[in-house]
Amino acid sequence: MKNNSNIILIGFMGTGKTAVGKRLANILNMDFYDTDQEIEKVTGMSIARLFQKHGEIRFRSEESLVIKKLAKKKNSIIATGGGIVLNSQNIELLRKTGYLICLTAKPEIIYERVKRRNNRPLLKKGDTYETIVKLLKEREELYQCADFTIDTSDMDFEEIINKILKFLGEKNSKEANG
Ligand code: S3P
Repeated sequence: MKNNSNIILIGFMGTGKTAVGKRLANILNMDFYDTDQEIEKVTGMSIARLFQKHGEIRFRSEESLVIKKLAKKKNSIIATGGGIVLNSQNIELLRKTGYLICLTAKPEIIYERVKRRNNRPLLKKGDTYETIVKLLKEREELYQCADFTIDTSDMDFEEIINKILKFLGEKNSKEANG
């Protein structure tokens, strides 16, 4: 792996970016950041409250500010919010700092994973499953900016981690061999 490269996890809500990122950071002895957590720190509000009080546009601008800050980090794992790809500048900034890994899952799996939690403002309106399908369709193409994509639908946590480690190992050996 390039010296000090970051690993950036992108993908739809409920695909496991934060949990996977934390675990990877632990295994690889890297720092861990989560864009939503950084936004909550800066604004002093939960994501739900920020959406409720100031709306999505304000959330997106806080998100882009956080990306600018995190793009200065090295040797870090960065788990991003599912909508990070909506702004191409976010992606271009992050891409320069390391590898973009996208976690995906089928809508029915995402639904199962998110339905118990009530902390995602975009999934609160209308029918949750239909919203997932609609947003996935809207964003499908945008997530293709990733260097590596993993469909996590039928995978357990360890399998996802191992897939990523294998991808990084291959990158490593390619670079070592020129
Ligand atoms: C969003 C995803 C959320 C959070 C916000 C908006 C999105 O993060 O940033 O609710 O637009 O997909 P997770 O992907 O971590 O759930």
